[in-house]
Amino acid sequence: MGFPDRRFRRLRRTERLREMVRETALAPADFIAPLFVKEGQSRPAPIAAMPGQLQHTMTSVVEECGALAEAGVPAVMLFGIPARKDEAGTPAWDAEGIVQQTLRRLRGELADRLVLIPDLCLCEYTSHGHCGVVRDGAVDNDATLEAYARIALSYADAGADLVAPSGMMDGQVGTVRRALDAAGRADVGVLAYAAKYASAFFEPFRHAAESAPRFGDRRAYQLDPANAAEALREVQSDIEEGADIVMVKPALPYLDVLSRVKATFGMPTAAYHVSGEYAMLKAAAANGWLDETQAMFEVLTAIRRAGADLILTYFARPAAERLRRG
Ligand code: PBG
Ligand code: ZN
Repeated sequence: MGFPDRRFRRLRRTERLREMVRETALAPADFIAPLFVKEGQSRPAPIAAMPGQLQHTMTSVVEECGALAEAGVPAVMLFGIPARKDEAGTPAWDAEGIVQQTLRRLRGELADRLVLIPDLCLCEYTSHGHCGVVRDGAVDNDATLEAYARIALSYADAGADLVAPSGMMDGQVGTVRRALDAAGRADVGVLAYAAKYASAFFEPFRHAAESAPRFGDRRAYQLDPANAAEALREVQSDIEEGADIVMVKPALPYLDVLSRVKATFGMPTAAYHVSGEYAMLKAAAANGWLDETQAMFEVLTAIRRAGADLILTYFARPAAERLRRG
């Protein structure tokens, strides 16, 4: 049966009809809000390429978390910017580090209203800005794993619900899982940055997190944008190592990968709509070149439709507030 017996437009005629046949829904519970918290500054600082986002103080990050919980966002991803960096990134596992202190404050003030997920990496803490321990000019995989295990334990002690290793070292998920288990913290889960690409869209984040590499780039550890089959192998390996949730990052340029990851493994799957993706949209909207709210919802819906159960997005708060208002 085809035209004129079949007419698709019948079900597009009114909003009520469109609602009835809508395949994908967005809810505040789908979002995870990434937040930056910086040590040793007296007031929050704007981030030029990420309008609406801040380098928070501990006080302002707690306030923002309260507003997110109020809007129905269930989780936050925390990135710390330490006052001091060193060659080995030791401030990352300091029990009094900025993320550890923030986790304790949030546990105390928001109790169980938000799932707390610290990003677990070294790039914000190393003087060279790489995600691991540098030996002879290259990132040493296995030496880095020891540091990741220490960071995971300090985050668990401080009150993390999940930890999110993001450095793309081989074996990072298994190492973190075993370290947590050995410390009696089988309750703490792992959100794995499983398929993280060497992407130009991380640029605004690196200013926000003060984590740009001082030499070279991250292509010796992050995935080649040309590869999808390899991404599936990365995801499979993280699942075998004990990942509870797997992530694809960035989101829009990799919707094919996201779709295949969800279809192949059926795992709880997250996608990270990253800083550069946010910046593009904000910049175009600021110029009046597109409608920000409409574009935001179209993008978030597309990421859900492609297979994401969860979306890490800088739009978490405005999107959730808008959805709540109906
Ligand atoms: C670092 C890290 C990056 C992001 C999250 N964790 C950037 C990088 O790899 O340089 C990017 C997030 C974003 O762009 O929003 N491990
Ligand atoms: Zn990193």
